[in-house]
Amino acid sequence: MKKQAVGQSMDRVDGRLKVTGGARYFADHQPEGMLYAALVCSPISSGRITAIDATRALRAPGVADVVSHLNVPPIPGYKVENPNPKQGLKIFYDDRIYSNGQPVAIVVANTLERAVYAATLVKVTYAQEVHQTDMAGSIDKAFQNKNMKDYQRGEADAWKKAPVSLEAEYNIPIEVHNPMELAGIIAHWETPDKLTLYAKTQGVKSVQQSLKTLFQLPESQITVHSQFVGGAFGMALRIWPMEVATIIAARKIRKPIKLVLTRKDMFTLVGYRPAAKQRIGIGATADGKLTGITHEAIANTSPYEDFTEAIVNMSRMMYACPNVNTHYQLVSLNLSTPVWMRGPGEATGAFALESAIDELAHQLHMDPLQLRLINHADTDPEKNLPYSSKYLKEAYEMGAAKIGWQQRSQTPGKLEENGWLVGYGMSSGVFGAGRGRATASATLKADGSLVIRSAAADIGPGTATAMVQIAADATGIDVKKIKFLLGESEYPEAPRQGGSSTVSTVGSAVNDVCRNLQQKLGELATANIPAFKDLKVENIQHEDGQLVAGNTRLDYAAVLQQQQLPELMVTTTSQAGDERKQYAMYSFSVHFTKVHVHPATGVVRIKHIVSVADSGTVVNTKTARSQMIGGVVGGIGMALTEEALIDHRFGRYVNNNYADYHVPVNADTPPTDVLFINKKDPVINPMGAKGMGEIALIGFAAAVSNAVFNATGKRVRDLPITPDKLI
Ligand code: MOS
Repeated sequence: MKKQAVGQSMDRVDGRLKVTGGARYFADHQPEGMLYAALVCSPISSGRITAIDATRALRAPGVADVVSHLNVPPIPGYKVENPNPKQGLKIFYDDRIYSNGQPVAIVVANTLERAVYAATLVKVTYAQEVHQTDMAGSIDKAFQNKNMKDYQRGEADAWKKAPVSLEAEYNIPIEVHNPMELAGIIAHWETPDKLTLYAKTQGVKSVQQSLKTLFQLPESQITVHSQFVGGAFGMALRIWPMEVATIIAARKIRKPIKLVLTRKDMFTLVGYRPAAKQRIGIGATADGKLTGITHEAIANTSPYEDFTEAIVNMSRMMYACPNVNTHYQLVSLNLSTPVWMRGPGEATGAFALESAIDELAHQLHMDPLQLRLINHADTDPEKNLPYSSKYLKEAYEMGAAKIGWQQRSQTPGKLEENGWLVGYGMSSGVFGAGRGRATASATLKADGSLVIRSAAADIGPGTATAMVQIAADATGIDVKKIKFLLGESEYPEAPRQGGSSTVSTVGSAVNDVCRNLQQKLGELATANIPAFKDLKVENIQHEDGQLVAGNTRLDYAAVLQQQQLPELMVTTTSQAGDERKQYAMYSFSVHFTKVHVHPATGVVRIKHIVSVADSGTVVNTKTARSQMIGGVVGGIGMALTEEALIDHRFGRYVNNNYADYHVPVNADTPPTDVLFINKKDPVINPMGAKGMGEIALIGFAAAVSNAVFNATGKRVRDLPITPDKLI
């Protein structure tokens, strides 16, 4: 028997293509006759467009057209009446300006430089109205929509009666995904009712679905290509108005058009992690048993869409606490719509909850790890269900040993190394382990190679590599003879790559289609091949890519060759069953940090990180480690450096570039130990793999702020923890 492929540290199947420039990202495509687009964006943050004069732009060299609400051809989907007024920004629909940076026109020319120049010649006049971009100024207008349900178990605000309690407010600023690859699209109407797109997306099928409604075209008339994506972190989970603008212009001009955003536009046109103000009330008995948690959150959204996420949900289920209530509201600001950003709402909520747990531990004179163990939830307290698997206690133990937790001083400010204050901090993270529905096709060729297709995405974690490993184990075919193809809308349906569920969802489809392929091969053999003729299909064994019956072994390829079949294809849809109603399924993480804080300057240096994941079976230890480190780097940014700053007088970002918006660089990223529990979840899916992408980041910021408190005795409740907050 071959060595198992799942669990190996296999190199990425597309690694060579990526590092040699052979991988083609959306902007690398070049349809014949392609033109280039540049956006004209609003410099005001609220009001109306009173006039657009494109005369000079249209006279500039190479300009094909300037499209705005004044000359946009009818968009079929815009006519559909929707009773919900908050249905998103309909680009070029009317003269309304909702936020700074909103596109008001798209300029198309035969070179990028000409498009960019002509965009400067478009003269737009506005009637400005009062805007609000500061959450503090809008708190009194906070609201809940009908999807935002309050939660209560036991008594509300029970923490107020606890022997030991605290109430604190935690704030996070707007954070921007800022993947290296810029967003954009190439739109090409091959005929008036046949659209081809090269997109940067986390889901080709989802793009197809959105446009199907907007342009009222059958699915088969929309082709979306997105084989390589240079990072996304959630910003490519939906289609954005700038993409629709490009598609509209391409339809009007009847030429393929490419739009690539500027880095500045990445702050206003493709979502962001919303700012959030959170209040936690938490109480415990003197010996550390939690008696009540209240978690309230207010986050921002845009004027034209309600974006909600799971900010308060972790507080409902993380700890065994009899009394919990949560309340979540939105405020509309003159900003574009937020979107999920890695870890999404859970990362926001975990900062508040896991900071509050640390604060409570300090009040109780108790080790915060001990407090977490005392309140460990053995069954899910929200759903009242057993966990499909949970190795959180093991994760605490492994992480504590690795970071040297016993060196931590319970009293803050006690440790010093070379003139720097030393602190240790920890936090937990949790994220629902999902499994959706996906379809995959498997094509076995007469040469014994196997090609599997599914319209999945790979925004970086190494999807195809993991899928090849899963298929190798399911079929016994060598990994080198298996290809997994993704990122094409014509492939069998798969959901977006989001919510840490690709391996679970698409991996299950890959596993199941391989099983069905074996079934088909068995049927062929028993029907046609003498050595197998007297057997039942279910009595045939499968080993190393061969059919086995007693001493007779036959290569899969030989079955096809003997039948003179060039290939054999099967397609299978796979989804979760009732097990999801019987178990609570979550991935867990634990983050430990050791920090240095410079007493005079307030500079924080993270010296050592240990992140432990309970994410079920680890399919590929190399890509999984990279995935965890990526989450940690995002967490360092959230904790210490990332903050999109708005000048509220103008409602405009002031640090909308890589120089002023500080994502962590190598020098900010210390040695990081990634540890895996790597125990199969017996329930969730055939591989036993839970998700990993989100737990890599969720909780991390609290592990840093808790360490900073341990070093200095200063509690920073407003991220990021910049030096000015410590001196
Ligand atoms: Mo992730 S925030 O689900 O792309």
